[in-house]
Amino acid sequence: MDTLQFRRNRRLRTSTTLRSMVRETVLRKEDFIYPIFVIDGEDINNPIASMPGVFQKSLDHFTIELDEVVSLGIPSIILFGLPATKDELGSEAYSDQGIVQKATRLAKERYPELVVIADTCLCQYTDHGHCGVLEDGNVLNDPSLELLTRTAVSQAKAGADIIAPSNMMDGFVAAIRQGLDATGFEHIPIMSYAVKYASAYYGPFRDAAESTPQSGDRKTYQMDPANRIEAMREAESDVAEGADFLIVKPALSYLDIMRDVKDNFTLPVVAYNVSGEYAMVKAAAQNGWIDEKAIVLETLTSMKRAGADLVMTYHAKDAARWLEEK
Ligand code: PBG
Ligand code: ZN
Repeated sequence: MDTLQFRRNRRLRTSTTLRSMVRETVLRKEDFIYPIFVIDGEDINNPIASMPGVFQKSLDHFTIELDEVVSLGIPSIILFGLPATKDELGSEAYSDQGIVQKATRLAKERYPELVVIADTCLCQYTDHGHCGVLEDGNVLNDPSLELLTRTAVSQAKAGADIIAPSNMMDGFVAAIRQGLDATGFEHIPIMSYAVKYASAYYGPFRDAAESTPQSGDRKTYQMDPANRIEAMREAESDVAEGADFLIVKPALSYLDIMRDVKDNFTLPVVAYNVSGEYAMVKAAAQNGWIDEKAIVLETLTSMKRAGADLVMTYHAKDAARWLEEK
């Protein structure tokens, strides 16, 4: 045996303390952005069957949620709105009395230091459920930009700290940047859903946000899951147009893309750990088939290891508690 040469990698794994000293990736509650679904109305706290632990909340319940999020030390939320009425052009998205605008004002009044991110899209607000203006079954690009810009400006007026456009129209970052700059919001960052795939992992979200397209699908604007080089083009154009953060979405099946985005650009990268990823973990945990805490912390760590600086996740509240325990 004395001639056998090999490297003893196990030397650095011998104790909890030593393992923590050589740990390369550290998950912190400061990395989390918690998504919240706000709905018009009163005393509504509707559970979403496919997303255990997630609810549609009217503003009274949203207030309680805010208290919990802030007390857990989660620094940021992203708001998705369920409007009282939907129409062809999604007008509640850009109404100053829209649900996201009202929720934003409430959140900033109660917790000025909480970073409130507004998701900027039309799909929850249009009666056809597409993310832009629909004509003869086609989603029109440039007419959608105008409505999305109005939405972003209205959200900024309500006090949103960051605008997060998720619509995947071409030129949405440029249009929104120009709209914000022209209305005195040049200081408001854009967190762009730069790389967003047409994914089946959004299924539970569409239950929660009631935003399933009534006809067709989103494949003419969201990306083909088979494409990697195209993700670089999408990120490149958003950087050129003035994005301040780049979101990669979904996260778990796209960790290779996350690493590419991290290595090829200099902006902060955000992983969106989407609804379907959450639902799978929750379902298995409820069956007693997996250790939920261990799986969630391992999963979120993998996103950071792949290059994410921040993680949007429905697990944020649980994960913040678990990190506190450790
Ligand atoms: C809508 C939007 C979607 C998500 C965030 N914003 C779904 C979609 O494109 O249909 C998905 C989030 C999730 O699944 O958790 N623009
Ligand atoms: Zn949309």
